[in-house]
Amino acid sequence: MAHSQVKLCLNYVLSITLLIQIALGASNSIAPLFHFCFTSDNFTTDSPYQTNLNKLLTNLLLDTPPTGFSSSFAGQSNDTTFGLSNCRGTINTANCSACINDATSLIRQGCPNNKGGMIWYDDCFMKYSNSNFFGTIDNEDVFIFPVEKNVTKNPEAFYQNVTSLLFQLSAEASLAPKLFATGELEIEPSEKVFGLVECTRDLSSFNCKACIDATIGILPNNTLGTGRKIIGGSCNVRYEMFQFFND
Ligand SMILES: *[C@@H]1O[C@H](CO)[C@@H](O)[C@H](O)[C@H]1NC(C)=O
Ligand SMILES: *[C@@H]1O[C@H](CO)[C@@H](O)[C@H](O)[C@H]1NC(C)=O
Ligand SMILES: *[C@@H]1O[C@H](CO)[C@@H](O)[C@H](O)[C@H]1NC(C)=O
Ligand SMILES: *[C@@H]1O[C@H](CO)[C@@H](O)[C@H](O)[C@H]1NC(C)=O
Ligand SMILES: *[C@@H]1O[C@H](CO)[C@@H](O)[C@H](O)[C@H]1NC(C)=O
Ligand SMILES: *[C@@H]1O[C@H](CO)[C@@H](O)[C@H](O)[C@H]1NC(C)=O
Repeated sequence: MAHSQVKLCLNYVLSITLLIQIALGASNSIAPLFHFCFTSDNFTTDSPYQTNLNKLLTNLLLDTPPTGFSSSFAGQSNDTTFGLSNCRGTINTANCSACINDATSLIRQGCPNNKGGMIWYDDCFMKYSNSNFFGTIDNEDVFIFPVEKNVTKNPEAFYQNVTSLLFQLSAEASLAPKLFATGELEIEPSEKVFGLVECTRDLSSFNCKACIDATIGILPNNTLGTGRKIIGGSCNVRYEMFQFFND
């Protein structure tokens, strides 16, 4: 994953949302973090693609909450739409259901005529496309959030500590059934860094680790924030100096 492919989220609303979440230490916001539409291909109103997309999203809405993951497709030949939705590993059925419900309606509002789109929340992720992306690492739709606060003390050691925690979590997540792991590392007495990594569950164990490791590689080694969030079409990585996830 080349640095040039990483898009910096400079969306103002997004940054404000993030700031508020950090300020409150909230971990279960229902507000979407970000959405992204594939603009190259559009469908027309009442077309077969639209019918298939409605069917797909309804199926995802019904099928995801019990296990936290569903992937499905609807339609035939050039009107086929492929989609998946994934709730974060620790999210219970009710919260997963609430998140997917919101995602289903907001993705349609956010990407009204696009043949592909994706939307991220803290609790869940949803993606659909007219091409079959299952099992393939999406290393194009990767977004790194701006730094809110820089590390001032010993940034090199902090970088080493953060990346060693995240690489360890990457190995753990790739072997976990939900392709998800959280953990913490005490870097100084009473100073801890918390990490979370996750993949969409269509990925193999091997591809999950490859996706997370490449995403960790995006973190700049000199201008390191005290917290950072990178979201992607196949995996997410986040660390903070406070516990931002439920056990
Ligand atoms: C699809 O729609 C977007 C937004 O309306 C537009 O910018 C884009 O050119 C369209 N794509 C094609 C292939 O028509
Ligand atoms: C999709 O395929 C159908 C027949 O299979 C054809 O009539 C239609 O024009 C195609 N649509 C596009 C956008 O290629
Ligand atoms: C579910 O959401 C509620 C309200 O946002 C929150 O208090 C609770 O901790 C969440 N539970 C889990 C398991 O995420
Ligand atoms: C963090 O440091 C970088 C490089 O020194 C600087 O460009 C950026 O504005 C700083 N960000 C904050 C939030 O202070
Ligand atoms: C943090 O990184 C420094 C520099 O590499 C290292 O000496 C220290 O042992 C690390 N701390 C932990 C808890 O891994
Ligand atoms: C940080 O990254 C730069 C450019 O990628 C590299 O030249 C430098 O050696 C790295 N520094 C450390 C401490 O890893």
